[in-house]
Amino acid sequence: MSIPQIIAPSVLNADFLHLQESLSAIEKGGAGYVHLDIMDGHFVPNISFGPGVSASIHKGTKLPLDCHLMISNPESYVEEFAKAGASIITVQVETTNHLDRLLHRIRELGCHPAVSLNPATPLESILNVLDIVDMVLVMSVNPGFGGQSLIPYTLEKVRTLRKLRPQMNIQIDGGIKLDNIGQAKEAGANVFVVGSAIFGTSNPEATCREFTHQVTSL
Ligand code: DX5
Ligand code: ZN
Repeated sequence: MSIPQIIAPSVLNADFLHLQESLSAIEKGGAGYVHLDIMDGHFVPNISFGPGVSASIHKGTKLPLDCHLMISNPESYVEEFAKAGASIITVQVETTNHLDRLLHRIRELGCHPAVSLNPATPLESILNVLDIVDMVLVMSVNPGFGGQSLIPYTLEKVRTLRKLRPQMNIQIDGGIKLDNIGQAKEAGANVFVVGSAIFGTSNPEATCREFTHQVTSL
């Protein structure tokens, strides 16, 4: 059974003065999710936005919200993001002492639980929860900023995970470009976060369509 190939543009580097245009562009460009990078200036050295802006984005798109929580103490915020309209809530394994309980809580809130791990974090740290989550996010950059370069050894983590779970949703996030998305897909990823390589171009709709075409035609 083939698994869905999904482009999830990250709005972190979108033009926030014209966010509705950006959201419409990726919808027309064939995106499957909107990826929201939630940063608290504590777990990562950057601050982005919270549940309030996420709720506004939810009103401006038909696409499911893919909320990537790069925050300390995620337990205190998952309910707010569920209320804001999140479809997927992803927590970083490095930010909680009670991952099992937190993932079950996210599902109780009616959202799809997902877990993310930083480049240097071993895959073993999430193997026990593979039956609880609907997706695993393999960070291919050190989190906190868009526009960084993909770290090659992270593709080996994707490859290992795909061998372990042939049908699981495996998301890759950070440094994805038109010239390396083929490698990420070949390694086994099927959900691709793309930020600056879409919103850093003059025509995000056409660029998003190129990415969508790439992953569905390869
Ligand atoms: C980084 C974020 C990524 C980032 C992707 O911490 O999790 O989602 O915004 O942006 P690009 O595609 O530019 O690396
Ligand atoms: Zn992200």
